[in-house]
Amino acid sequence: MLLFDFMFSETLNASLVQSSLVCLATFSAIIWWLRPSRSRSLPPGPRGWPILGYLPNIKFSEWCNGYQTHDVMCKLAEKYGAVFGLKIGSKDVLVLNDYESIKEAFHHTNMNDRPENAMIKNIDNLGTGILFSCGDKWKEIRKFTITKLKSFGIGKRSFAENITIEAECLNSEIAKIQGNPFYSRPLLEPATLNVISSILLGQRFSYDDEELHFILDNLHRNGKVVGSGGALLFVPSLQIFLKDKIKEYRHNLDVVLKYFRGIVSKHQEEFDPYIEKDYIDAYISEMRHNKDKGKQSYLDVSNLVMTLGNLFAAGSFTTSETLSWAILYLTKHPEIQKRAQEEIDNVLNQNQPRLEDKPSLPYTWAVVLETMRLATVGPLGVTHAVADDTRMFGCEIPKGTMIMPNLWNVHHDPALWSEPNEFKPERFLNENGQVEEPPQLIPFGTGRRSCPGEQLGKMELFIFITHLLQKFNFKEAEGESPLTLEGSLGLTWSPTPYHVCAHSRE
Ligand code: HEM
Repeated sequence: MLLFDFMFSETLNASLVQSSLVCLATFSAIIWWLRPSRSRSLPPGPRGWPILGYLPNIKFSEWCNGYQTHDVMCKLAEKYGAVFGLKIGSKDVLVLNDYESIKEAFHHTNMNDRPENAMIKNIDNLGTGILFSCGDKWKEIRKFTITKLKSFGIGKRSFAENITIEAECLNSEIAKIQGNPFYSRPLLEPATLNVISSILLGQRFSYDDEELHFILDNLHRNGKVVGSGGALLFVPSLQIFLKDKIKEYRHNLDVVLKYFRGIVSKHQEEFDPYIEKDYIDAYISEMRHNKDKGKQSYLDVSNLVMTLGNLFAAGSFTTSETLSWAILYLTKHPEIQKRAQEEIDNVLNQNQPRLEDKPSLPYTWAVVLETMRLATVGPLGVTHAVADDTRMFGCEIPKGTMIMPNLWNVHHDPALWSEPNEFKPERFLNENGQVEEPPQLIPFGTGRRSCPGEQLGKMELFIFITHLLQKFNFKEAEGESPLTLEGSLGLTWSPTPYHVCAHSRE
């Protein structure tokens, strides 16, 4: 997701960097004391630099201490408290670092806008989709999307069977590797992308399909641009530094949206009002219905195309990276892997895992929950914006302020989780061995704008993990350097690419 990372990139050539830095340093020294670098109405926080705000400090911490953006925010929370303010570029940002403040803010009606996506503004005929829209437009697209996700069976047995088919395909791809070391990401991504694709486009792809790789490559490329400059999306004043990146982002977006437009046109040509086979059909049907009734609506083709892009981006990598972390933790902790496998063997007795088995597999489900806590693939969630001046946290928070939820800090708070940096699935089991999910576990965010794919994501994680553990023992690859639990921040918080061996259990 849009995870704040600092934005200077290799595209700036060395001389430009040098002269820019000299100018910037001189300029900054002059106006440092003349200009407040954080809105006075926000809670106290660190001072930043003119124009760039706190970004240089974040980058500096990354270079010098190996900190990620979320680590920097955690350190600042130790100093300034759970709620603090700072500037990113020219924008005021309110950083929320504990469960109570995130919950309070995100359940408030005024705190659920998104900042304007400066990268795509001023482009004609471009909808803002579900992810970047605000107000009535967002409400209508989100309500429609959630209703349709439900009607296509999310949370229902029929749809779980589609995921099961995908899990079987994943297992047979892994089986082909015959226990040799492999890199899981190129297999996990098609699997999770296919699940979302079957809902949206009504089709799945084979793992070597060119169209599938076209979508994945494109999402990756823009993830990289966004990852190396999440702030870039929302902070217009920073864009002058990264013209090439913006060009690349827009080009990639153009290409993928053109592809989705083509698919939508085909659906329009072949539309049959009596058969709603996927999300696009349902959307077209709703558009026609609104037109017939003369009803004003935001459901138009440009928002459809953008929403498709949003759902693919938000729905595939989050899930595949969580699976990738789960395989890594289970390989690093063979005793935990064995305990989950024993539970699966005892309960399922070689039968195929089904969604209904979840209550009978508490330890296996606890493994998934612990992975979501410890890995937190969206450590800083997705940035919100304040829709109107709002009194909260003892301050008058101005309209337009960006709000960054530090989910990482919530999930690693030693006051909530004993030994927070350890992988301990049993922390989610009560004395009867049943799962208890504390409200402070919020990998999908919380409140009015929380992830609409939560149920789907959870279904996928359960079905994929049970299938994988039933069929394979995951082991470190011999002769390779030991697995590391280090990650890197791009579109999601992802494990450093690793190789494991999957030995068949049969
Ligand atoms: C493990 C899997 C997933 C995780 C950890 C995750 C996490 C998140 C988080 C933290 C947010 C931001 C919420 C906020 O703005 O406060 C979000 C938003 C979103 N997610 Fe997910 N997500 C996952 C899977 C999915 C799936 C499968 C879908 C597909 C339906 C999806 C679709 C979305 C969309 C469309 C948004 C934006 C919602 C809006 O702006 O109203 N996510 N997700």
